[in-house]
Amino acid sequence: MSNYIAEPFRIKMVEPLSITTRAQREEAIKLANYNLFSLPSKDVYIDLLTDSGTNAMSDMQWAGVMVADESYAGASSYYKIRDTVRDIFQYRYMQPVHQGRAAEKILYPCLLKAGQYSVSNMHFDTTRGHVGLCKAKPVDLVVPEAHDTETVYPFKGNMDVERLENFIREKGAENIGVIVMTITNNTAGGQPVSMANMREVAAVAKKYQIVLNIDAARFAENAMFIKERESGYADRSIIDITREMFSYADCFTMSAKKDGIVNMGGIIGVKENQELFTKVQALTVPFEGFITYGGLAGRDLEALALGLYEALDENYLKYRLGLIRYLGDKLRAGGVPIQYPTGGHAVFVDARKVLPHIPYYEFPGQALVIEAYLEGGIRGCDIGSYMLDPDPETGKQLQAEMELARFCIPRRVYTQAHLDHIADTLISVKDKAETLKGYRIVWQPEVLRHFTAQLEPVNSDILFQEGARK
Ligand code: F0G
Repeated sequence: MSNYIAEPFRIKMVEPLSITTRAQREEAIKLANYNLFSLPSKDVYIDLLTDSGTNAMSDMQWAGVMVADESYAGASSYYKIRDTVRDIFQYRYMQPVHQGRAAEKILYPCLLKAGQYSVSNMHFDTTRGHVGLCKAKPVDLVVPEAHDTETVYPFKGNMDVERLENFIREKGAENIGVIVMTITNNTAGGQPVSMANMREVAAVAKKYQIVLNIDAARFAENAMFIKERESGYADRSIIDITREMFSYADCFTMSAKKDGIVNMGGIIGVKENQELFTKVQALTVPFEGFITYGGLAGRDLEALALGLYEALDENYLKYRLGLIRYLGDKLRAGGVPIQYPTGGHAVFVDARKVLPHIPYYEFPGQALVIEAYLEGGIRGCDIGSYMLDPDPETGKQLQAEMELARFCIPRRVYTQAHLDHIADTLISVKDKAETLKGYRIVWQPEVLRHFTAQLEPVNSDILFQEGARK
């Protein structure tokens, strides 16, 4: 089992957490209609809903907040982030935006025409949404190893290159608007993409003259996985590995709320295509604001310029990947099945394995995260059938390929004792799995229902008698 790698920082500022009883949590989750997104954060002890924008900034970043330039045009903080991005990624052009989906909203219409395909190792939901808004079709071609949580494979985030090339031949290169490499592959469990895979995908993109875009939210964690797992990279620096990864692509969209180690921010990078960048700038002004601030305050730009470098620090990354590995190993030792090897930003519990008696239409992932909240005050989220909107044509509940419960670890926020509490909680949930019941939706909005839907527990015994359960 992995040892916990001690934090390469000490704590200078603290934020109190609320400690609640099970009875209080039962009341709170009922009031939230069994939707964890509807819970006030004051009712949560350890918040693992996301690693996005929930990071702790360093003393240097907070100092940056104070010295930032808030000028509308040409602020020195803009030049600082521009030069940082040029230095780290070696791209000529960059545009700050307020978060990852803002980058997608601007870049994807520049790349995709109606009816075309966007092909990815796996699209994140907002990316999928923006592809759809361009009236284009998202297709995920991740390697098959990603779909089996028990298969040990070092780069479960990879694109299936053979299927990619077959798909391009079948549909015609002119019908593929963009290839997207999501690093790390969030939806597959924060799983990394290898350098070899990036190189092969880039060769295919070049052969068929298709734009290659990186969804770069967790680029630094991906670079560290390459250093740890891919032969030939052990002695290369993280910045060097990052530069090589990005050298294979034409552009990137980044939610900087993850590896930028800030609370808000995003970036569009364009390697050298001036025409594309001119289009990006033209759309930035009406959507995000003037090009030298792009929806962010000067203090956000300043903090991000510093955060991007901090994310490349090898001691930080060793600790970061180490702590998630530690949590994953503890869970496995306690009999909790997870996507393995453990990813970079979260543990993904295989809810179908923990709760085999709860069918997909009663949402095993959601049942698991609700019980984890009741048991230990921790907040995760379902990445399974509950997260899928009903089929737009038939209105029927769709079945997700995997039923996962995701517990994300914010950067530089929780300590080893918190991780032990998370592990103990999830092991207790697994121990009482047989007693858990599923949920049904009593109200849902038309799209992206998981954020606001209202649920209630299913009385399984009655359904069982009526023969409705499988
Ligand atoms: N791409 C990836 C891979 C992401 O994980 C996210 C966000 C985005 C794009 C969109 O960025 O939130 O800044 O607009 N992921 C968060 C999560 C929300 O919890 O996984 P955003």
